[in-house]
Amino acid sequence: MGPWELQLCTYGLALATALLLWAACACGWRRRRRTGEPPLINGWIPFIGKALTFKKDAFNFLIAQQRKFGDVFTVHIAGRYITFIMDPFQYVYVIRNSKQLDFFEFANKMASKSFSYPSLLDFPNLKERIQRNYKYLQGEALGIISDHMMKNLQHIFEWKYSQATDWKTEKMYKFCSFLMFEASFITLYGRDPAADGYNVISEIRDKFTKFDANFPYLVANIPIQLLGATKKVRKELIHHFLPWNMAKWMGGSEVIQDRKDILEKYELLQDSDKAAHHFAFLWASVGNTIPATFWATYYVLRHPEALAAVRDEIDHLLQSTGQKKGSGYNIHLTREQLDNLVYLESALNESLRMCSSSMNIRISQEDYILKLEGNREVSLRKGDWIALYPQILHMDPEVYEDPKEYKFDRFIENGKKKNTFYKGGRKLKYFLMPFGSGISMCPGRFFAMNEIKLFLIVLLAHFDIELVEKKPIGLDNSRFGLGILFPDSDIVFRYKIRSLEE
Ligand code: HEM
Repeated sequence: MGPWELQLCTYGLALATALLLWAACACGWRRRRRTGEPPLINGWIPFIGKALTFKKDAFNFLIAQQRKFGDVFTVHIAGRYITFIMDPFQYVYVIRNSKQLDFFEFANKMASKSFSYPSLLDFPNLKERIQRNYKYLQGEALGIISDHMMKNLQHIFEWKYSQATDWKTEKMYKFCSFLMFEASFITLYGRDPAADGYNVISEIRDKFTKFDANFPYLVANIPIQLLGATKKVRKELIHHFLPWNMAKWMGGSEVIQDRKDILEKYELLQDSDKAAHHFAFLWASVGNTIPATFWATYYVLRHPEALAAVRDEIDHLLQSTGQKKGSGYNIHLTREQLDNLVYLESALNESLRMCSSSMNIRISQEDYILKLEGNREVSLRKGDWIALYPQILHMDPEVYEDPKEYKFDRFIENGKKKNTFYKGGRKLKYFLMPFGSGISMCPGRFFAMNEIKLFLIVLLAHFDIELVEKKPIGLDNSRFGLGILFPDSDIVFRYKIRSLEE
């Protein structure tokens, strides 16, 4: 957003706030806590409530409220009442009540508004068909799509970096973003074989980055008209996915082909609506994967012991399967081999633990009494939001010792994957939730994990690699609640093709 747009946006917001304040005062509005309801934190600004404090630092705000009010409390945030369930042992009671505490209403509204397509509910069985489509990201189909990803990744690595016989310096986020966007895009959507040098994927990536920068504002209900060029960029992005443009892309995935077939069945969907659906899926598939790839790479490079262990594990696997490392050799791994890379998986899980900040939201479908552990009951009103905020769990020192420290082998025990974590001596059912929970759990989670593992395997098998800048990188909290946080700055690193004598 440029300075003028920003100023306009600020004036717009100030005006809207003033009008809301006036309206609120005129109506004498303020919610009061009823018997059985959790403690209510209203804030003193009508309609805005605690939105500003929450936006500034959600993590510490929630911790402070938990200290004052206990594990369940309701906060008024921008006209919504959100009941936070802070105790991870209570998560299950929210997750299993998916009928009364619905996820779909929230997701459908948010996605259709942000990506500009009509509500799924206006089209019979569309929601169910799309949900069934996720089977192409699991089971056997996962093996196929992961294989394609590996081929595409290696092709892009080879093509772009075959010249790196001497140290080549680059910015790491830019590097990860370029490779992962390009490889994921080709794997999912295919590529135009007749493009003749013109790289439409780079154009889509640049526009995607612009759109994504303002995505948190869209989700926060700021009208797109106030967000500078975002509306125009979104229209251009959607245009790329119109049926006649997509028809040029060859070699795409089953998941996208099936999605196309599903959408084609709905005559009342405009071509631009179908295109918007494809664009939304693109956002879901790379929006979090790119920053997650950055963090996984950054942490491994920053911790020499992690780099050594992960690289050693990869080298061993390649050796034991008779595959050569180094540029010019293609690596092929089965799903099982990928699964068995416990150090790589643990290092990746540890980076996800440290940088994910998703908020799992459900909406109460009726005035409802939520039963929690130990006969505890909490009254919820129809339309209220219920939220789990797993970043608090990920940073809980009772669950993860020294939670701010990156320990690459935190998820390994006796040489095997560690799946048991405790809080207060009790075993936790949920301890790592970067991909959400229950009904709203990310359908692309297995593919996402594979993609990032494959990226690291190709990178570490083919290149010597090290950080050039030593500055620590922090989390940019402006995308809290949306998934993987971005880094607060990029960092310079260098890489060179590994010598084959090693
Ligand atoms: C590290 C990478 C990723 C992370 C951390 C992540 C995380 C998430 C989370 C937390 C949600 C639930 C959102 C909510 O509760 O509102 C979600 C939904 C979704 N994700 Fe992912 N995701 C990742 C990668 C992927 C990939 C690679 C794909 C597809 C290829 C994908 C496809 C989707 C889709 C389609 C949904 C929406 C599901 C629905 O509402 O029906 N994600 N993701």
